[in-house]
Amino acid sequence: MAKLPEEFIQQLRDANDIVELFRSYADVKKRGRTYVCCCPFHSEKTPSCTIYPESQSFYCFGCGVGGDAINFVRKMDNVGYIDAVQILAQRVGLQMPARSPEEQRTSDLRRRCLEMNREAANFYYLQLVKGRDKRGLAYFSQRKLSPATIRKYGLGFAPDEWHLLRDHLRSKGYYEDEMVTAGLCRRSEKGAVYDYFRNRVMFPIVDLRGSVIAFGGRVLDDSKPKYLNTNDTPVFNKGRNLFSLNFAKNAASTTFLLAEGYMDVISINQAGFENVVATLGTAITPEQARLIAQYAKEVVISYDSDGAGQAATQRALGHFADVGLPTRILKMEGAKDPDEFIKKFGPERFRMLIEHADDATLFQLTKCKNGLDVDTEIGKTEYLRRAVKVLAEISNPLQREVYISKISHDTGVRAETLQLQVDGAVRSKKRSAERMQFRAIEAQSLQRDEINPEAQKYPKESKAELEILAYLIQHPEDYEMIWELIPPEHFKTEFHRRVYMTICQKCHDMGNFSISLLGEEFTPDEISRIIGITAKFHDSDINRDTLQDCAKLLQDAQNRIIPSAEMSDDDLRRLLNDKKQKK
Ligand code: CTP
Ligand code: MN
Repeated sequence: MAKLPEEFIQQLRDANDIVELFRSYADVKKRGRTYVCCCPFHSEKTPSCTIYPESQSFYCFGCGVGGDAINFVRKMDNVGYIDAVQILAQRVGLQMPARSPEEQRTSDLRRRCLEMNREAANFYYLQLVKGRDKRGLAYFSQRKLSPATIRKYGLGFAPDEWHLLRDHLRSKGYYEDEMVTAGLCRRSEKGAVYDYFRNRVMFPIVDLRGSVIAFGGRVLDDSKPKYLNTNDTPVFNKGRNLFSLNFAKNAASTTFLLAEGYMDVISINQAGFENVVATLGTAITPEQARLIAQYAKEVVISYDSDGAGQAATQRALGHFADVGLPTRILKMEGAKDPDEFIKKFGPERFRMLIEHADDATLFQLTKCKNGLDVDTEIGKTEYLRRAVKVLAEISNPLQREVYISKISHDTGVRAETLQLQVDGAVRSKKRSAERMQFRAIEAQSLQRDEINPEAQKYPKESKAELEILAYLIQHPEDYEMIWELIPPEHFKTEFHRRVYMTICQKCHDMGNFSISLLGEEFTPDEISRIIGITAKFHDSDINRDTLQDCAKLLQDAQNRIIPSAEMSDDDLRRLLNDKKQKK
């Protein structure tokens, strides 16, 4: 890979303040000299992600992700190093330096995928409104979509032919391979390229930057499969995007509606609710729940009223609980989905439905009654047993009490009695959570360390190396002294040695050092680990005495002739053989 000039990387880093970058993804709070926020890379309710403005880096003590602005974008947008640099350069209007042919190719391919998608969206739209075949238009009008809605969503129609889009894209100068990569066409076994979407009404999927990144296509009748969706491509990942988020993010309301599909979203939106999104043909992922939590203060799940919809609701509830987003559930009667409800009863009734949606707890409590006759003693007891479990899940004691008094009122059981039961359940839940955490930590320490596999074999040396690296990163101006003191071959673990040598090299070449200069030589996970070193020692200044001690420990380990107790018999035999050969 052709290297980007280090001056450029410095410039890029200076222009993209990491705290500002985080602000567009998370609620950032100042804490002393650093900032904290809930980690955008894993689900949590209390912030364990720390941002260090001085070193322009971040580290999450919860999941171990860390890095600089570039690593942040790599992880967040799931792109390679060069693309991340490009995104940051664009963000601040910096001109990218020339790149290697290979890097040029990947970023060109992404660009052309986006262009082809835009071209295809236009094509499908024109086919819908101007094409000879009017069935697409008839379908939308039968589903009561207005021309304004069709334009707003850029809906389209793919006629019942095999090569229309392919030939159109060809005429615009695109290659067949590119069309296949973009998911717009497929290649048959014989090698012929044909349109993927045929005889379907088309729903373009638009990302937050306004680019068309994929499509959903629906049949006009009851044939199967009802929907075709673009598979993952260089510009599309179905688990990370949401349909209509481009509109919902600008909605006045911070309550989001989560619907099951394209038609529900469009129909709800047309009824005057801008704040609605849907997943893209799959169950909601933790990432999508996090994405919603970035824009919404509350979500109302508006899935179909059938069994599948209710099961999906249950799963979505879990994901929203994980990200701490308050959730309510729409209870629809007299219609199978929001689309049908709005057509039957109108937008005003739908608004009331939203306003009266039960919160997640009420939804769960109602479910506790399933299959029970709560008028019998046995039924009531079982119901209370289940209900206590649900209440124990609520973290806020005040909120718990509200429900306790409600259940007490409904069942005639004294609130004090219920309270005792719930308190007991909360305590035992806490104990088992602690046990789980303990076990997780235990398991983690037994797990193989993928990044620095030798660390477990040489725990003492590895710890000394860590402190040396932390000192070096804190005091890059001392690098010559350190280099004199500790030759790289004294490092026992290969990974630490590589970090040590690279940092010293950078200090030598550049006269200073920052984490951003490591981006091309280390993988994102390795960078996270390096940031972890600095994060762990952030509040403790390592002094020169400690450095000397560490140097000595490594030196002694080198000179050690009598093998340490940690050595296995095999190691010992090998060592003795070595010595023999040297003689
Ligand atoms: N879906 C899919 N493939 C299918 C069926 C459904 O990907 N074979 C996805 C689509 O994203 C769809 C969503 O699941 O939008 C919900 O399915 P459904 O309720 O059947 O579709 P609606 O969008 O409500 O469409 P319609 O009302 O036209 O049936
Ligand atoms: Mn439907």
